[in-house]
Amino acid sequence: MAELSRRRILVSGGALGALGALGMASPAQARSLMEWTWAPSGSVAGSGAGDDPRWVWDEEADPLVASLLDRGAVPEVNRLLRDWTRNDQPLPEGLPEDLRAFMESARQPPSWADHGKLNIAARFNESRGLYLNLLNGVGGGMLSTAIPKEARAVYYSKGGADMEDRVAKTSILGFAVGAPNAYRPGGSCAVEAVKTRLVHAAVRHLLQQSPHWGGGIPISQEDMLVTWHTLPTFAMRKMLEWKVPITAAESEAYLHVWQVTAHMLGIKDEYIPATWDAANAQSAQILPRNMGPTPEGVELTDILLGQLAEQTSPGSISRPLCDALARYLVGDQVADWDGIGREPVWDPLISSAWPKLVKFREGLIPLPLVPQVAWVIDEAARRYILFYLTKGKETKIEIPTTNRPG
Ligand code: HEM
Repeated sequence: MAELSRRRILVSGGALGALGALGMASPAQARSLMEWTWAPSGSVAGSGAGDDPRWVWDEEADPLVASLLDRGAVPEVNRLLRDWTRNDQPLPEGLPEDLRAFMESARQPPSWADHGKLNIAARFNESRGLYLNLLNGVGGGMLSTAIPKEARAVYYSKGGADMEDRVAKTSILGFAVGAPNAYRPGGSCAVEAVKTRLVHAAVRHLLQQSPHWGGGIPISQEDMLVTWHTLPTFAMRKMLEWKVPITAAESEAYLHVWQVTAHMLGIKDEYIPATWDAANAQSAQILPRNMGPTPEGVELTDILLGQLAEQTSPGSISRPLCDALARYLVGDQVADWDGIGREPVWDPLISSAWPKLVKFREGLIPLPLVPQVAWVIDEAARRYILFYLTKGKETKIEIPTTNRPG
């Protein structure tokens, strides 16, 4: 109980700081945003205990993976799972029995998964691939470094030492969600989501042993929801802002593929928003209290933007342009938290050119109205996506057995 109170105070302090920075820190507002008021009636389950998700983790995967780590079973499990890649593929022989039983159940999509909607989502993901990859890859990356608990978790876990590999691994799931056959037999989304669920369970166990961590059990249900909102909720908001035409069926379907993915990652159904309204309400409640600057986030952002500039050169996109693109995607508040510099030349150019490119792509304005710089960004985005597609093919999501060395 004492531990719980201490953590509540720590969390409150961070949230008040973030709210202050967002310019909305009246004490009454701050207090109301600290309480968990989002109702489970707005979830895909339709009901639930309504427990504060800050204090809920993954009660099935966590003890199991902790035990695998303690038993020294993880290297062999990783070896066996390397070639487990398709949704319809039987699990490999030789897995520990407790893990096999868990994975057989965890790989099943929820009973409420709707294949009609998933098909529409697949077509939407394909037609809007460029925006989505840019928003989820670059935008989502820059938002994740402005989430203190996530930035620190990534920094001090094993993958924090090699961000190129880390991004490639994360993109494996991103590309699987966006693939035409995501949850169909030949797809890989169920596989990669279950592997990720195991990785997160390992991180919960391992990080608490890191001398640098000191933040209690990481990756709570609330943390997962925060990250989830930086992916579909953020992407949908930006596409609407850019006036990308989206039908009601597409919007619902895009939400659906991410609802299913949330479930597969171990987010409980009572926390998964059933509608965009419920998603926006939940995001408004939990994002402000979970965002802000950290030295780790600033360092990770610098590494990520350096990679973006490197992967898209030679000649096409400079670091200042990458910084300006990142700032444009996430906005000034988050960009400042991430320590992204201001670019007096590029910042205004991008804000005016990008919406025109979107309008052109959507058939709303003729080509001569698109400034040249928009094509530079378009090409850079393609190269960046291709780079991580290729890298992702060379690597696998694996359960870590250690934290970041040193
Ligand atoms: C690993 C996605 C939430 C921290 C991964 C991986 C994926 C992923 C695909 C595997 C890649 C790898 O092993 O490097 C997601 C998604 C989330 C989510 C889609 C939410 C919807 C979170 C949150 C945190 C977090 C909330 C921390 C607060 C980590 C860490 C790793 C990891 C530390 C392991 C890196 C390592 O092995 O060193 N995540 N994640 N994730 N994730 Fe998440």
